[in-house]
Amino acid sequence: MIQGDYEEFKKSIFSLTKIDLNAYKEKQMRRRIDSLITRNSFKDYAGYAEGLKKDTGLFDEFVNYITINVSEFYRNPDQWKLMDTEFIPELKKKFGENLKIWSAACSTGDEPYSLVMAFSRHIPLNKIKIHATDLDKTVIGKAKVGLYSAKSLLGVPSDLKDKYFDKVGPSYQIKDEIKKQVEFKEHNLLKDAYPSNQDLIVCRNVLIYFTEEAKDEVFRKFAASLKKGGILFIGSTEQIMNYKDMGYERRNSFFYEKVR
Ligand SMILES: C[S@@+](CC[C@H](N)C(=O)[O-])C[C@H]1O[C@@H](n2cnc3c(N)ncnc32)[C@H](O)[C@@H]1O
Repeated sequence: MIQGDYEEFKKSIFSLTKIDLNAYKEKQMRRRIDSLITRNSFKDYAGYAEGLKKDTGLFDEFVNYITINVSEFYRNPDQWKLMDTEFIPELKKKFGENLKIWSAACSTGDEPYSLVMAFSRHIPLNKIKIHATDLDKTVIGKAKVGLYSAKSLLGVPSDLKDKYFDKVGPSYQIKDEIKKQVEFKEHNLLKDAYPSNQDLIVCRNVLIYFTEEAKDEVFRKFAASLKKGGILFIGSTEQIMNYKDMGYERRNSFFYEKVR
């Protein structure tokens, strides 16, 4: 059991990292933080917070650990099939080929690179631009390197896997022609300004860690970011309850269209 004042710890973390732990589900987050503190042999929150200030290794480990970066290509392949057959053709028809696409909380790049490959079936590669953001600069670094295990590629259609990956030892590296179409940036969904006029926002498997209030605010900000007719693609466990109030129409459990 970690000693000390968790409320004070949250304040120190906010001033150090600009990550507001109040916006994340407390029980789950605190359990993760406590186990990390124990693993690093600190006894209390204050001592660990001091450690984070002085030791960049400890600091990077903390941000990396609490942000939970698990990802994979074409995560939930059925939903990507719908992207291919329904939503990408529809977006192209409505808004043309120069689409504004945002992969928010993109982790190690699996999602934005999947987007480039999925769009490449409908739009010439050189016209595809994905804006990809995450809070954690370590995962952005990994995304830029673009090296993946065979397991994370399981959902990639085999023709695209052959075309766009090089085998490097036991791993696979995404080719530059895909990489070039993605621009990575650090961005905190709970603090930073959102881009405007988006045609498609993909934000999956991050809001499950947020409190209801924080989630609500993010969905509202996405609505403000989207063009009318734009689409929000969310994760399998992240329904939007009051989507009508926010100006969305529910196309199915994972896709919402901004209608007002
Ligand atoms: C589980 S991964 C999801 C990756 C990908 N979207 C997918 O579905 O496979 C969650 C990502 O959310 C990021 N994240 C957590 N809190 C965030 C915040 N406040 N703003 C932006 N990204 C955040 C983490 O750094 C992590 O990379």
